[in-house]
This record gives sequence, structure tokens and C-alpha cells, in this order.
Amino acid sequence: MKTILITGCSSGYGFETARHFYAQGWAVVATMRKPRPDLFPASDRLRVVALDVTDADSIALALELAGPIDVLVNNAGIGLFGALEHSPMQRIRDVYATNTLGTIAMAQAVIPQFRERGAGLIVNVTSTATLASFPLAAAYTGSKAAIQGFTGSLAHELAPLGIAVKLIEPGYGPTTAFAQNADVELADVLPEPYWSYAEPILMAMAKPALFTTEADVARAVWQAVHDNTGRAHFPAGADAEAIMRQA
Ligand SMILES: NC(=O)c1ccc[n+]([C@@H]2O[C@H](COP(=O)([O-])OP(=O)(O)OC[C@H]3O[C@@H](n4cnc5c(N)ncnc54)[C@H](OP(=O)(O)O)[C@@H]3O)[C@@H](O)[C@H]2O)c1
Repeated sequence: MKTILITGCSSGYGFETARHFYAQGWAVVATMRKPRPDLFPASDRLRVVALDVTDADSIALALELAGPIDVLVNNAGIGLFGALEHSPMQRIRDVYATNTLGTIAMAQAVIPQFRERGAGLIVNVTSTATLASFPLAAAYTGSKAAIQGFTGSLAHELAPLGIAVKLIEPGYGPTTAFAQNADVELADVLPEPYWSYAEPILMAMAKPALFTTEADVARAVWQAVHDNTGRAHFPAGADAEAIMRQA
């Protein structure tokens, strides 16, 4: 039985990916900052482990408790929507600490066990914002674009060791907790003159023609884990697939 460790499983894409792999018979280490075992069925195949990807001690302890894993999914992430001019620098630091450095730290922490076994897979969840630039998300896009570049380069150096590194590129997922977790007031980050520019964008986001569901991302991670063709990019969601076709 294979084991997958997923970061950011308290909600959204990570939660659904954990459920999907569990349903398919995998052993799952569902990690989250504040453990909520009640979210999942009680099972010796599913462990909920505390993990904050911005904290080195938390990463070390979580990996010790997890034991050997076959796949790491770097899903944990926070968003930031608004005009860069008004985006609090501390929030920008948090976005990079989580989305960029958290992903890099997790990869660095699992490489030794993968190298020793000559096998392993790291799956990094980025965003279609890195494929087609999205307005009012400059700092967030930068945090994810860094991981696109990081993944491509890392894949080269780890391939000879039997370790693969792949990308999931989800589209806009209005049903996850992502927007609520953004932790900024729109009025603060979109004052005039940005508000008049942002209003139609927000209205379009409220009724997207195409979007991504949690199940789309879980399926894309499943596909990435089982793909043996050397493919590195896996768009998730109808909007992501449409953007990929145009790219
Ligand atoms: N929803 C979208 O529109 C969208 C689009 C493209 C890409 N994405 C990406 O998809 C991923 C999942 O997002 P989602 O939409 O499912 O949002 P979500 O429901 O807010 O889930 C994000 C998860 O990340 C966790 N998290 C945040 N900071 C963390 C930290 N320091 N350490 C560990 N876990 C942390 C959150 O857990 P707690 O806060 O409970 O600790 C939560 O479980 C993110 O990387 C996001 O950037 C989302």
C-alpha cells in the first residue's frame, strides 16, 4: 500500500485530495495546522498530523510522525487579492513564506528519504495564474510562478535519483475556503482608483463561466501520481484546461 502526505487538508483542494486517495485504498497522511481528525473517517489508513509549512520544527516532527511516504503533495497555500500598492507587506511575506518557501522546505525535507529509496514523487500545487496572468493578484502570482520555475529545475536534478517532481495547475475554485482565508478587507486593498477597475472583475468572479472544483483537483493529483509518460504539467478544472489550450 502506498502512502501520500498532503499539506493543507483542513479544507478545499487538499481535503478532497486526501478523501480521494483514501477512497482509492491509499494510506493518507492528511496534514493541517490545527488537526481536525473529525473531518475524516476513523481508520488506520488515514492519519491527521499537525503541520505548519512555515515552521521547520513542525515540518521535521510531521515527517517523523508520518514515517516513510511515497508521494508528497504541496497543496497548502494562502491567497492575496487586491492592488499591490495597498497590499500589506506582512501579508505578502506570509504568502511567500507559505506558498513558496513552505513548498521548498517540504521538498527539501522529503528528498533524503526518497533518495535513499531511489523513488518518490513531489507534486506542487500552483495556479493557472502562472499560465495566464490574472489581474489584482501580482504578489500571489509571483509566489506561485516561483514554484513553477523551482519545479522545472528540481525535476532535472532529482530525475537521476528516481524522484519525480510535477505540477498541478488548478483554476479558480470559488467553493473552497481560499477567499475567506485571504485575511484582508477588500475595501482596504481596493480603494479608489482601483475599485472602479476591480468592480467588473469581482462581478465576473462571482459568476464564472468556467471554474475548478475540489474533485477536479483531486482527479488531477491522482492522474499526476499515476502518469508514467514524463508529463510535468497537470491543469485541474474546466477553466484551467481552457487556459492550457490557449497557452
Ligand atoms: N481556490 C482557488 O481559486 C485556487 C486557484 C488556484 C490555486 N489554488 C491553490 O490551491 C491550494 C489549495 O487552496 P484551496 O482553494 O483549497 O484553499 P483553502 O480551502 O483555503 O485551503 C488551503 C489550505 O492550506 C492550509 N494552510 C494555510 N497556511 C498553511 C501553513 N502555513 N501550513 C500548512 N497549511 C496551511 C489551510 O489550512 P489552515 O488555514 O486550516 O491551517 C488550508 O487547509 C493553494 O495552494 C492555493 O494557492 C487555489
